Amino acid sequence: MRERASYMASPNIQRVSHQWVNQIAPLFVLVATTVLVGCAGDKSILDPAGQAARDVRLIWWIMLSFASVVFTAVIALWLYAFKRKPVERTPAEERRIARRWILGGGIILPVSSIAALLAFGVPAGQRMMPVPLDNAPEVIEVIGHQWWWEVRYPNAEGGEVVTANQIVMPAGEPVDFHVSSADVVHAFWIPRLGGKIDMLPGRVNRIRLEADEPGTLVAQSAEFSGVGYAHMSFPVEVLPRDEFDTWLSARQPEQLADLASQGNSNALAAFQESCASCHRVAGLSDSGEGPDLSDVGGRAALGAGVLPMQTGAITYWLTHHQTLKPGNRMPAHDDMDDATLETLGNWLEGLNP
Ligand code: HEC
Repeated sequence: MRERASYMASPNIQRVSHQWVNQIAPLFVLVATTVLVGCAGDKSILDPAGQAARDVRLIWWIMLSFASVVFTAVIALWLYAFKRKPVERTPAEERRIARRWILGGGIILPVSSIAALLAFGVPAGQRMMPVPLDNAPEVIEVIGHQWWWEVRYPNAEGGEVVTANQIVMPAGEPVDFHVSSADVVHAFWIPRLGGKIDMLPGRVNRIRLEADEPGTLVAQSAEFSGVGYAHMSFPVEVLPRDEFDTWLSARQPEQLADLASQGNSNALAAFQESCASCHRVAGLSDSGEGPDLSDVGGRAALGAGVLPMQTGAITYWLTHHQTLKPGNRMPAHDDMDDATLETLGNWLEGLNP
């Protein structure tokens, strides 16, 4: 014990400590700047596109500022402890000072800072709760699957609309998202709108979000859910109300069934034989094992964000999906010849209402 005390008091050690601080400070500034410069773009909570996200950003800045003050104070005290000359104190005085630190730093400081955070956090969380409104808002159900998203519009005029791996929502009005999961825990998160919220099997969680204006946002799963987790993203298209209504009405089951039935007969037969057991196409099949494909030609991307949609993309997905998204739950169709897969791909690409 005595040896350790004299080691700590050694002037050499003190000098080394100061050098270390001098070296680490510029590195810290460099890393912090680099990290903060990265805080922009599609998935940045610092670039909000709705009120809930602005609330989250405010809380984030408050927390960062407060944490910076605490961090600076702790470092300052730490350096001071190295520098300060030893003071002669009686054991009773030592105990009184120690008690003051424990009470102040261990109880008063955390209780008051958590209370201050709650004062901002609780109202912000409250605003994201779907409390009743005079005009019932649009409801969008989102169900997480390993590793794709099922999306439903239960209140669409004319009947429920089903799609996958994309959300289209109206601008400038609250939208209630009812989220759950078909298998493991996922988390629903549109960083620029607010959130996030867990998607749990057997339970429906609700969150109210609103986008200020039309545009394209990105959603991302925020809970590790297995090998395909990193590839669980999707675009969120925000449209003016009238365009949103048009989008919905183009996806009524009868219209989608009409569109699908116009396909080449080889494609329809191959679909029934190899794909219908997992995929729904309105009017042809009704399985929910894989994403609904009734409007797949109109998606911005395939595989929950792994492959941007363009001519030939679906055929490419059919032949390369296990390389594009390793481990995904769609079996490789190596037994099918390329010509059939291409016919299937072309037909699916035409399902663009
Ligand atoms: C055993 C079930 C199963 C079978 C059979 C199957 N799929 Fe899939 N399919 C899936 C699953 C699961 C996904 C989601 C993969 C992912 O993104 O993680 C998928 C994804 C897709 C996608 C991408 C959809 C999107 O929105 O990103 C297309 C297109 C597709 N399948 C077409 C087909 C075609 C065509 C066939 C028949 C040749 C077929 N699938 C057979 C399960 C299946």
